[in-house]
Amino acid sequence: MPFANEFLTFLAALNTPDRIQTNPLREGLAARPLPEPCTVVIFGASGDLTFRKLIPALYNIAADGELPAGLTVVGFARRPKTDESFREELETAARKFSRQTVQDEVWNSFEQNIFYHQSEFGDADGFRRLAERLDQIDAERPTRGNRLFYLAVAPDQFGLILEQLKAVGLNKAKPGSWARVVVEKPFGVDLPTAEALNAEVSATFEEKDTYRIDHFLGKETAQNIMVLRFANAIFEPLWNHRYIDNVQITASEPLGVEGRGPYYESSGALRDMVQNHLLQLLCLVAMEPPTDLAADSVRDEKVKVIRSLRPLVGEDVATHVVRGQYSAGAINGKNVVGYREEDRVSPTSMTETYVAMKILIDNWRWEGVPFYVRVGKRLPKAGTEIAITFKRAPAVLFNNVIGEPSENVLVIRIQPDEGVSLRMQCKIPGPALRIEPVKMDFHYGTSFGKASPEAYERLLLDAMAGDATLFARRDEVEGAWRFIDPIEEAWHGKGPQPGLAFYPAGSWGPKEADELLAQDGHTWRRL
Ligand code: BG6
Repeated sequence: MPFANEFLTFLAALNTPDRIQTNPLREGLAARPLPEPCTVVIFGASGDLTFRKLIPALYNIAADGELPAGLTVVGFARRPKTDESFREELETAARKFSRQTVQDEVWNSFEQNIFYHQSEFGDADGFRRLAERLDQIDAERPTRGNRLFYLAVAPDQFGLILEQLKAVGLNKAKPGSWARVVVEKPFGVDLPTAEALNAEVSATFEEKDTYRIDHFLGKETAQNIMVLRFANAIFEPLWNHRYIDNVQITASEPLGVEGRGPYYESSGALRDMVQNHLLQLLCLVAMEPPTDLAADSVRDEKVKVIRSLRPLVGEDVATHVVRGQYSAGAINGKNVVGYREEDRVSPTSMTETYVAMKILIDNWRWEGVPFYVRVGKRLPKAGTEIAITFKRAPAVLFNNVIGEPSENVLVIRIQPDEGVSLRMQCKIPGPALRIEPVKMDFHYGTSFGKASPEAYERLLLDAMAGDATLFARRDEVEGAWRFIDPIEEAWHGKGPQPGLAFYPAGSWGPKEADELLAQDGHTWRRL
């Protein structure tokens, strides 16, 4: 019975000591640290972020069975509430915003881990009571004394909360435990404010315990950029100025400012989206392969890209950057007001709701390759994508053929309809030699048959695991501001200011953005 013998040999091989320790089903996960039990303290527990993102994310982690045992949530906010009323509010929010339907059974057990702590952020006694309450939680629940402080508040509250945490010693972990802080965006409004905030944070928590959120990094498709580039041998040899003609990064939203007028007035699209999310995507496309996947190895490579961005100063701003603002128009057949008519927005506002820019990276790999970046609100369609256009094949063989050969374009769709497509030339079947572009298309939905987790799920798990790879490091954030500040300065400073270009809501942005590309003989890709 040779087969039986082989089978027994196979079983014996499985029983060798090093095999016993490896669970083949966990292959690939072993390299990632596991999320550890802890108490997540959310400052700003009555806020939008908690309701729309954090609690739905924690619920989904629980529903997927990945929540570390003993995980406890303490919501910290000003309004008086009981644990019960807080849980009820969160349940309503989770039912509305969760990506998976909320199951009564899972919710009922999950909510038992949620508590409410009422205090003003400026109230020292409220923080003293918080420290006592966390000690009590650690004594009663298997949290192992680990604490994750999540600052889901307006940035002007960060400093105050950090001070208070320090005053009661909550910034220091007990022996064998950890204390980490998660800081939401916006991380400053320019370089000096980001530096000041970094100084405040580092006076309270060490850099290794500081997790600066850029939720785009938590998106499954953003994480796939590195895999696509470095786990496939076919792309890397072509990934440079010899073969790539231009790169376009687009983030388009039909939404307006959605009641965030005051925040948006002080921010604008450049600070809200380009300084963080879009520059992060650009770094993932442009970076060199890291030496390994350790958080600092990856972040070192991203910082090098940021340092190589050609600065846009003075007159370059007018020639390389277009700022736009939406006027009244229609989205999906519905009339919408212009930005200046939005709630709590100045009727003479110069805030940009659209930015298009041409960025050059001064290094060997990207010499002369334009990276066109555009982002806008009230555009016709929701979509974030990266389009890498390769140089044309020499037209020596097919230049007389019907149908002009077009370029190969690799499109990484970050959202929605997450996936990757490659456009290439094909012969149309038939006796005549006719060429037409066709698309090879991969969709996450159909290939993996399950929805991707929300960015916040991954980021919360990583913060619990102590893996900072998908969080922005201090020098990345400061480097990004160093690049952005001169543009803001040219727009809002004393010198002659480049104009603001208006576009009707529901259009693809101002004509000036088309002209920006037309100068180089390019056009924006249609989403
Ligand atoms: C946020 C911006 O960081 O990102 C918003 O403040 C923007 O203005 C949002 O709408 C876009 O994120 P997502 O994940 O919905 O594409």
